Amino acid sequence: MPDRTRFAGKAAIVTGAARGIGAATARRLAADGADVLLVDVIDEVEATAAAIGARALVLDITARDAGARMAAAALEAFGRIDILVNNAGIGGSRRLADSDDPLIDRIIDTNLNAMLRVTRAIVPHLPRPGGRIVNVSSIFGLVGYPGTTAYAVAKAGVAHFTRQLAGELAPEGILVNAVAPGVVETPMTAARLKDPHYIRLQVQPTPVGRVGTPEEQAAVIAFLASDDASFVAGAVIPVDGGYTAARHTPPES
Ligand code: NAI
Repeated sequence: MPDRTRFAGKAAIVTGAARGIGAATARRLAADGADVLLVDVIDEVEATAAAIGARALVLDITARDAGARMAAAALEAFGRIDILVNNAGIGGSRRLADSDDPLIDRIIDTNLNAMLRVTRAIVPHLPRPGGRIVNVSSIFGLVGYPGTTAYAVAKAGVAHFTRQLAGELAPEGILVNAVAPGVVETPMTAARLKDPHYIRLQVQPTPVGRVGTPEEQAAVIAFLASDDASFVAGAVIPVDGGYTAARHTPPES
């Protein structure tokens, strides 16, 4: 349940916050009392931010100066940055044989390389102790899923970046963790969730028996950003209805 005192006096940046998991996360952090800067490449982010009384920055996270511009905007608006949520990402990946160089570069640059560059620019501004970074990986970064090669490799990189950076920053008092979402109903998955083949392969084997909501991801991201997670570092938490834990076999119909 939202608690306005949870992040009172704290400021957060959420990337990819115009819609989907990022928008739900921004909403949750704001409802829990944080000042939030929503960053996205699409203008829709302005309306998403306005609806929750937050700030917006239209920005492509793959730009070389993206991290510096995000830091400047947050510091100008709030005077501090306590929490960074690296959520922005793109799908559209294919099997390796069908992936040309521009596709591989675009998927890995957006989903992984940009995260490293943005994080490097934000880290100097985080409080020590108290800074928090939460990255968004994927179940496909934990277990393979044929047909989405560059995306899965990038998301596995996000998971290991989380562990690596946790080791580098926890001694300074900054905690780095990640969520690995299962299938969540967002604009990214809207088309695939109409495909019976995808439902059979991805949704039916999920022990909880349904797709997730953006708010269920946001709740765990907010936990990882909060004082309740004070002894959690380098964790990549599957928020996947049990998908990576056990295969559910529906009864024969
Ligand atoms: P979405 O497509 O609904 O939202 C992603 C947001 O990121 C969009 O608003 C988009 O404009 C923004 N974005 C994309 N490229 C950007 C860039 N270069 N610069 C700034 N903003 C950019 O996607 P969704 O589903 O909310 O996904 C959020 C994160 O969760 C992504 O990292 C995705 O890979 C991950 N994820 C999603 C799952 C799902 O089932 N929806 C499952 C596992 C992981």
